[in-house]
Amino acid sequence: MALPPAFLDELRARTPMPALAARRVRLSKSGRNWKGLCPFHTEKTPSFYVYEDSFHCFGCGAHGDAFAWLMRCEGLGFMEAVERLAAEAGMELPKPSPEARARDQRARDLHAVLEAAEAAYRRRLFAPEGAEGLAYLRRRGLSDETIARFGLGWSGGGRGALAAELRAQGIEPAQLVEAGLMQPREEGPPADLFFNRVMFPIRDRRGRTIGFGGRILGDGQPKYVNGPETALFSKRRSLYGLDLAREGVFRGARLLVVEGYMDVIALHQAGFAGAVAPLGTALTPEQLETLWRISPAPVLCFDGDAAGARAAGRAAEVALPLLGPERTLLFAALPAGEDPDSLLARRGPAGMEAVLDAARPLAEALFSLIAGTTLPEAPEARAAIRHRLAQAAQSIPDRALAAEFRRALLDRFFALSRRRPGPAAAPRHPRPVPDARAVQAERARILVAICLHHPGLLPEIEEPLALLDLPEGPAKQVRDALLAWIPQAERLDSAELIAHLESGPTAAATAVVLRPAGLPPEARAGAQPREALDAFWQMFGFLRGEAQLAEDIRAAIAALAEHNDPAAQARLIGLTAAREARRRGEVEDLSAAG
Ligand code: UTP
Ligand code: MN
Repeated sequence: MALPPAFLDELRARTPMPALAARRVRLSKSGRNWKGLCPFHTEKTPSFYVYEDSFHCFGCGAHGDAFAWLMRCEGLGFMEAVERLAAEAGMELPKPSPEARARDQRARDLHAVLEAAEAAYRRRLFAPEGAEGLAYLRRRGLSDETIARFGLGWSGGGRGALAAELRAQGIEPAQLVEAGLMQPREEGPPADLFFNRVMFPIRDRRGRTIGFGGRILGDGQPKYVNGPETALFSKRRSLYGLDLAREGVFRGARLLVVEGYMDVIALHQAGFAGAVAPLGTALTPEQLETLWRISPAPVLCFDGDAAGARAAGRAAEVALPLLGPERTLLFAALPAGEDPDSLLARRGPAGMEAVLDAARPLAEALFSLIAGTTLPEAPEARAAIRHRLAQAAQSIPDRALAAEFRRALLDRFFALSRRRPGPAAAPRHPRPVPDARAVQAERARILVAICLHHPGLLPEIEEPLALLDLPEGPAKQVRDALLAWIPQAERLDSAELIAHLESGPTAAATAVVLRPAGLPPEARAGAQPREALDAFWQMFGFLRGEAQLAEDIRAAIAALAEHNDPAAQARLIGLTAAREARRRGEVEDLSAAG
């Protein structure tokens, strides 16, 4: 039962720490406080100080309030300490309100439901119906010990089988809905959310299962389904593998943040006991706080490709306002096209170790994220980058740290400015030239998906959107519908806009455009508008011919001179990034007009 904070405060106020401590320690006055020989370590001169509401030992670091005092001195549990002090102070323990009691009971019930479901899934994995799932996991290199450690299971085929099985244990379908395992339907009984999937229990910091993710066997879509938010499961607060990683870091492992469930599992199996992953979304401030409670410098591992760089950029942006002297991040870049799971399979633990050893401190990573590896030549574009560097530093609340970041970022800027650009280097990893039309169509799709998820950006991008020569196909069809309908579209939110497009002749095309596979995070629902805008301009730049792009950049410079606002900066930076990528040979010029 959780006690109301007001009650605890009142009890603390009625239990002055000096009187309590004086029962055990001979105290003498020291200014307004008291001091004495520390009861928690052996000392000859007093370094144990007692204040009105707390104690602190400058020798051994022991510290706490009246409750902590009793817990340490007498080995009581928290509730026991509270009860004892309340009795002494003549205060009655508050009775939990019926609502609080009911809430507690429901949470306990929900845990029991999830536990029962997990047990059923685990059993199925080793039953004949789970054979394919088990074979899949083994093929992916997981040992039986790992499978057991992560509690992996098999969902079964759906159609209410889980509900039927759990009903025998007194669990009702309504409880399965509450636990995020079934979905209510307008008609008929609730439907299973997970079927024909390998099940990954998601656990809280203490190892209690709070939800599930489920992976399809092989290549279908969606690849992973995650349970919905419930009373116990909050995606923005949870991290996959946290319970094990806490233990691992305590024993000396590095705290690593990777992208996928399978990455976490493969890393733990390979001995990287500090690996965790967010649940399919960008890192949230809540997750960063959780990470910093475990380690002052978690290592974020991202793909070495453009999407990975953007994910890193997003993480840095979320982290900056929360940084402190003991709260930073390291950035490790995986080789392009690899995730930790595939890297381990290919190069073993040593390959992963090398990636981690090359992790860069935040300031360094931040600089490359904002400025890239070569600075543009146009003074306006350079000024925009300098401005973004300064802004990044400014978003750190700790003044001293902000000043250090500013200096570090600008030092790098000037160091890079002095370097003469050499001849365009050949790309490090020559890639096969993909079918040009398919690449172009995919770019168009990403660009249009961005528009659908951010109708708020339409006033900003209507004109360039109309200008684009898109290949015939779903993206063009949706773009044209959007343009025809723009005055209404701007006033809608994304869900309404998509519903509109899905209700007419553009239904099929819209479904293709929004297919999540292949969409970078910025083009998906929930991306920050600023990132979406950056990505829009970069895609736009890729879709334009070389001569057109040069013209676009001149226009963007002029626009920036007129109003130096974030939208104008995003435009110039996105377009310049597209041109630089082209110069470095990372993007083939595939546009019809190019
Ligand atoms: P990945 O596709 O990188 O996952 O997505 P992975 O773990 O490497 O998958 P494997 O190796 O193909 O099995 C990273 C994470 O994004 C979320 C999941 O949390 C996944 O672990 N995700 C991905 C979804 O939620 N839904 C999806 O359809 C795909
Ligand atoms: Mn993977």
